[in-house]
Amino acid sequence: MNHLLEVKQLCRQFGGLHAVRNLDFEVSDGEILGLIGPNGAGKTTVVNLVTGMILPTSGQVTFNGADVTKLAPHRRAALGLVRTFQSTTVYGNQTVKENALRGAYLHRYPGGLSAFFSTSRARDLQKQTTEKVERLMTWLGLEQFADTDASAMPYGHQKTLGIVIALAAEPRMIFLDEPVAGLSAEETDHVRDTIKRVREQGISVVVIDHNMRFISGLCDRLVVASQGEKIAQGTPQEVLKNPLVIEAYLGKGHAAAQG
Ligand SMILES: Nc1ncnc2c1ncn2[C@@H]1O[C@H](COP(=O)(O)OP(=O)(O)OP(=O)(O)O)[C@@H](O)[C@H]1O
Ligand SMILES: [Mg+2]
Repeated sequence: MNHLLEVKQLCRQFGGLHAVRNLDFEVSDGEILGLIGPNGAGKTTVVNLVTGMILPTSGQVTFNGADVTKLAPHRRAALGLVRTFQSTTVYGNQTVKENALRGAYLHRYPGGLSAFFSTSRARDLQKQTTEKVERLMTWLGLEQFADTDASAMPYGHQKTLGIVIALAAEPRMIFLDEPVAGLSAEETDHVRDTIKRVREQGISVVVIDHNMRFISGLCDRLVVASQGEKIAQGTPQEVLKNPLVIEAYLGKGHAAAQG
């Protein structure tokens, strides 16, 4: 099978702490992969490493056949590798549409826009981007909020806005760090359906969350990390009954009781 992303022997230390240690995993084209593990397992660090927010101590990240291990985040985004953040990152004093536009540009033009936008080619690009963002907002049900202050939207919709911002960069793969944390059951189901629709567009998804009902109802495959290392991988059914995984989440006594 064609691997869009390959992570090999990835390591990241913070001082003496091994936040990520010798991690190997792959993500196929069109796959939804869940990256799970207890608090502090290293999940967000993996997203930071793969998307270029921080550099690894050692190891390699290959995306679509290219070694991107040391590439800047916006250059990875230009190749189609894009993320959302664990907490919502909407700007409260901007409308939903302004937020989505800002995100669309920031992924590609982190150096700022004002100089860039003085040319006519840039104005064409601006018009195309605005139309694209409007289409995405309609597609994911945010169009009625377009001119609303982003922080006034229900929290679930703010999470959806994070996904719109990521999609505006026209990714081939998105990393979603805790997209349903703090959401109601109904909002969670809505985000799950949204992610499935994203995948139907051919976009691969790596999703991190602590909500196992959400993760197992969404993901084709799971990778489980604990203390920076991969301890299991497989289908949700396989992984969630694995004694090593139960032990990592609940402690040794529980694994024995379940076993
Ligand atoms: N910039 C940093 N400096 C020092 N230590 C860090 C840094 N970032 C993360 N860590 C540490 O690395 C470990 C892994 O953190 P990380 O945030 O990746 O975990 P996580 O799996 O995302 O946890 P959670 O489920 O709570 O979000 C933790 O012990 C954390 O304290
Ligand atoms: Mg995290």
